[in-house]
Amino acid sequence: MVIRSRIIGTGSYLPQRVLSNKDLEKMVDTSDEWIVERTGISERRIASKDEAASDLAFYAAEKAIKDGGVTSSDIDFIIVATVTPDMLFPSTACLVQNRLGAKGAFAFDLSAACSGFIYALSVADQYIRSGMYQTGLVIGTDVFSKVIDWTDRNTCILFGDGAGAVVLKSDTGASGIISSHLFSDGTSWDMLYVPGGGSRIPPGEDMINNRLQFVKMRGNETFKVAVNTMCTSISEALKSNGLTAEDIKLFIPHQANLRIIQAIGKKLNVPMERFMINLDRYGNTSAASIPIALDEAIKEGRIENGDNILLEAFGGGLTWGAALIKW
Ligand code: ACO
Repeated sequence: MVIRSRIIGTGSYLPQRVLSNKDLEKMVDTSDEWIVERTGISERRIASKDEAASDLAFYAAEKAIKDGGVTSSDIDFIIVATVTPDMLFPSTACLVQNRLGAKGAFAFDLSAACSGFIYALSVADQYIRSGMYQTGLVIGTDVFSKVIDWTDRNTCILFGDGAGAVVLKSDTGASGIISSHLFSDGTSWDMLYVPGGGSRIPPGEDMINNRLQFVKMRGNETFKVAVNTMCTSISEALKSNGLTAEDIKLFIPHQANLRIIQAIGKKLNVPMERFMINLDRYGNTSAASIPIALDEAIKEGRIENGDNILLEAFGGGLTWGAALIKW
């Protein structure tokens, strides 16, 4: 008897405030045309001053729990993928646990930047497959607007805020997470990072004066690596399950840049209709992008029982990976 983790509920939350490309034209030297042509992004959501990662995560989690037909007391564990936690500690997951009143759950955060959700899903899957736990809550939440340099046109146009959540349940049927494939390359840690605010450059004058609390990115290099690594992890997931791209109903990639997704489609010979895309409305929401896209795909009726879907992500670390799910 094979135990699998099945996704029984999904939910997402996007902050109310919309920041359009036209709005950005007033803030930095850019244009709607440039942003749409180079990234595919038209607008993104921005958290309010009072909203932090745990708030967004809580709203998404509430929806996923309701959608899954369970209650907070059924949850055995909570894993939150984020690189913009409310504070250094305690974990954002413990804050979410408190808000949900999920007293029986253990909770912790996981840091893998934009690949965070796939990493967290993979960890959760191991707990469930082992038979140790039955029901888990996995959340991707990020509030990049708070770590973005709003004077840097190279980065501020790309990111948005949001959260997505799934409830996983132990099942012995054919559906569930079939396999996950994770990769890291720390040699390129400085391709995409936030230098300040940790124990190397603690908050203080040096950090503020040199704007080290903000995201630094080598965009052009990131672009190329993103295409190659996501193609590698997709191929790995297909090969290890004896499948081809034809067997996948829907690809749900990390929503960083439309051109990255188009390049992957071209390399794999998969038409754009088989990719879930919502980055035009939300930009890159980091760890939240895949669970938000998954939630929307389900609600749009793009996934049916028995479909194979493939999630793939790339992010700072560097980290990348894919997860094959039979719905
Ligand atoms: N508006 C107008 N011009 C701009 C802007 C802007 N917002 N940003 C950059 N430019 C200019 C540059 O200054 C440059 O000008 P120059 O030629 O005079 O020097 C020119 O546009 C071209 O710049 P490139 O960086 O070569 O532009 P590119 O086509 O590579 O697009 C982009 C830049 C959109 C950042 C792209 O490289 C990209 O999407 N990279 C991937 C980024 C990414 O996915 N990051 C997140 C990874 S996931 C995670 O872990 C968070």
